Amino acid sequence: MLHLSGELGSGKTTLVRGLLRELGHLGRVKSPTYTLVELYVVSRLNLYHFDFYRFKDRGEWQDSGFREYFNPHAACIVEWPERAGDLLAPPDLAVRLAIDGEGRRAWLSAASPAGEAWLLRSLQRFSSAS
Ligand SMILES: Nc1ncnc2c1ncn2[C@@H]1O[C@H](COP(=O)(O)OP(=O)(O)OP(=O)(O)O)[C@@H](O)[C@H]1O
Ligand SMILES: [Mg+2]
Repeated sequence: MLHLSGELGSGKTTLVRGLLRELGHLGRVKSPTYTLVELYVVSRLNLYHFDFYRFKDRGEWQDSGFREYFNPHAACIVEWPERAGDLLAPPDLAVRLAIDGEGRRAWLSAASPAGEAWLLRSLQRFSSAS
């Protein structure tokens, strides 16, 4: 599970778009602002892209029934995870984005052994590529 936080317009949806392109998704990637969730089938994987911006409190998340989507067989990416309060399980990876002039700044933190392994591999790949 991946959490994306950061102010309005900081690039969360854009990051998901890039990720899905990289995974081979050729179609459109809509912001789930109104639908709350968009499903992408990537190979045999169900990838759910959520946006909880419209939830006013954690109770609304509870009522949404989305909890069952968060299972080991699905990949979940969540924009505005803080709107679900502490009801969401900790993510494997949390990315915080911030506007920095024309560009964006990102902070990555791992919160599970799988997330840690992924981050470590990415850092190794990044340092051997540069
Ligand atoms: N890395 C980037 N560099 C420059 N511009 C960016 C970058 N990422 C996103 N943008 C621009 O910022 C705007 C907002 O991006 P995006 O919709 O992805 O933000 P968001 O964080 O999902 O916002 P929201 O909280 O409303 O869902 C878009 O116009 C997009 O083109
Ligand atoms: Mg968005």
